[in-house]
Amino acid sequence: MSVLSVQDLEVYYKTDRGVAQAVRGASFEVPEGQVVGVVGESGCGKTTLARAIIGVMPKTARIAGGRLMFQGVDLLGLSPREMASRRWRDIAFIPQSAMNSLDPVYRVGTQMAEVLVERGGMDKRAARRRAAELFDMVGLDPGRLRDFPHQYSGGMRQRAAIALALALEPRLVIADEPVTALDVIIQRQVLDTFKELQGRLGLSVILITHDISVVAYASDRVVVMYAGEVIESGATAEVLGRPFHPYTMGLCKAFPELHGGGGTLVPIEGSPPDLIAPPEGCSFADRCPFVEPECRTARPPLVDVASGSLAACRRTSEAEELRVLAGEAGTWLRS
Ligand SMILES: Nc1ncnc2c1ncn2[C@@H]1O[C@H](COP(=O)(O)OP(=O)(O)O)[C@@H](O)[C@H]1O
Ligand SMILES: [Mg+2]
Repeated sequence: MSVLSVQDLEVYYKTDRGVAQAVRGASFEVPEGQVVGVVGESGCGKTTLARAIIGVMPKTARIAGGRLMFQGVDLLGLSPREMASRRWRDIAFIPQSAMNSLDPVYRVGTQMAEVLVERGGMDKRAARRRAAELFDMVGLDPGRLRDFPHQYSGGMRQRAAIALALALEPRLVIADEPVTALDVIIQRQVLDTFKELQGRLGLSVILITHDISVVAYASDRVVVMYAGEVIESGATAEVLGRPFHPYTMGLCKAFPELHGGGGTLVPIEGSPPDLIAPPEGCSFADRCPFVEPECRTARPPLVDVASGSLAACRRTSEAEELRVLAGEAGTWLRS
């Protein structure tokens, strides 16, 4: 059973230069009680996707197509008011800059209680009790509710942001780069707490990150985005262990710790296409070491490749050989 089904989502921004197609026909499922990692380079549409799901977007953004089926209801068909009543209660969001979203002049506990009163309709005393409970849950000493935000470390602030997201017991939590600003050891600790809570509460999670090692560590399934499209998806171990899309092969190559530190770190050269005039064919063609002339004529659809995985590449039948080539550093170096 899926909690959320994202179907052919299209999100465009109006800009001075023209219309930027930030999310282009993205489709994937979020199964009940699982963590789905959404991964891709900066600018590939992850935050836009998240904001479309929670229904909080800048005025210049427009949903140009698709459906967001949440427990049988298309979120895109809801009025802003109906959507607002579901936010936090059904779907909670940990924004990319959650660490800095606390107001420096008020005690953390005061801010937590205020949110619980506003979003949860609690009275002040119940809100204070719930804040302490939530702090305990995310591994923070409830005594620290009396502190001001500057007295918190980055990891503590991120834990407080998680506590706030869980306040009203949502079904789905969307976390946008929740550990990006933290050092690696603290990242692990925060992810461990998050995973433990997710399992215990049976939460469904969309974990957004540009860091494929975070996905490898914390997600059950992975959705790889490139230039606004989903180019590969499936069980994390399958997709990272046996990628079918050259972009995913390149991402794995750029994070050698995935393979126990055995490989050479090789970045994918070049940059993603301009989303105001995206290419007609495969959006990865310009950077793909395995590109063929036909790749540039039409966008490859997502097709079944292996045990529940999907990939959008014309050459998936040759994936085994391409994986061997992708493992050689020279493949990724431009002459
Ligand atoms: N408010 C905006 N107005 C215009 N373009 C935007 C806006 N926000 C994001 N974009 C563009 O949309 C694309 C996707 O951005 P974003 O969703 O933030 O990607 P990510 O979170 O993966 O880094 C980028 O090309 C970005 O420049
Ligand atoms: Mg982002």
